[in-house]
Amino acid sequence: MKTAVYPGSFDPVTLGHMDIIHRAALMFDHLTVAVGININKRATFSPEERVDFLKRAIAAEGLHNVTVEAYHGLIADYAASLNANTLVRGLRAMSDFESEFQMALANRRINQQVDTAFLVTNVEYMYLSSSLVREIGHYGGDISEFVPQCLAEDIAKRLKQNKPNI
Ligand code: COA
Repeated sequence: MKTAVYPGSFDPVTLGHMDIIHRAALMFDHLTVAVGININKRATFSPEERVDFLKRAIAAEGLHNVTVEAYHGLIADYAASLNANTLVRGLRAMSDFESEFQMALANRRINQQVDTAFLVTNVEYMYLSSSLVREIGHYGGDISEFVPQCLAEDIAKRLKQNKPNI
């Protein structure tokens, strides 16, 4: 069985992430979407909220070979614990490439069984990022074009409550 892991912060999940999930689900027997902690970023949504959003979006799309989990620690170790040899990552632009290249090399150094497969994002979502969604949502803008329809209201409500301190 070919198992892959799609790790990310998903703070929150966007339609760009969903596009990668759809396409990876067709390539592997099983895909685990893994919500991790990027220590260089301050998260807005808790890991539980991010997992819940992903589970709801994936259920709404009827993706039966995809599960969602939160992980702690190194992604290379987590992949090994699932017997998964492939990490999936989305590439939006050349600007993503350098950090993704570094992360793929580091992960392979930590776990020699693990390879990273890059999926080039759909051109429609090239500009999209979770921070863009967070920023538009903070100011009460319409985020419904950027996140799964079933989550738009909850994400918008939550972001409006989370106004920055100034
Ligand atoms: N469509 C839209 N947006 C996309 C995207 C796509 N296809 N692909 C990436 N992005 C955006 C995200 O929205 C996010 O935007 P933001 O920076 O504005 O929040 C950004 O690209 C990257 O985020 P994401 O892919 O969700 O995760 P990340 O790069 O923050 O995640 C971890 C990194 C969690 C996978 C990594 O830090 C990790 O594994 N940490 C655990 C510890 C570890 O193993 N560290 C060593 C790694 S070598």
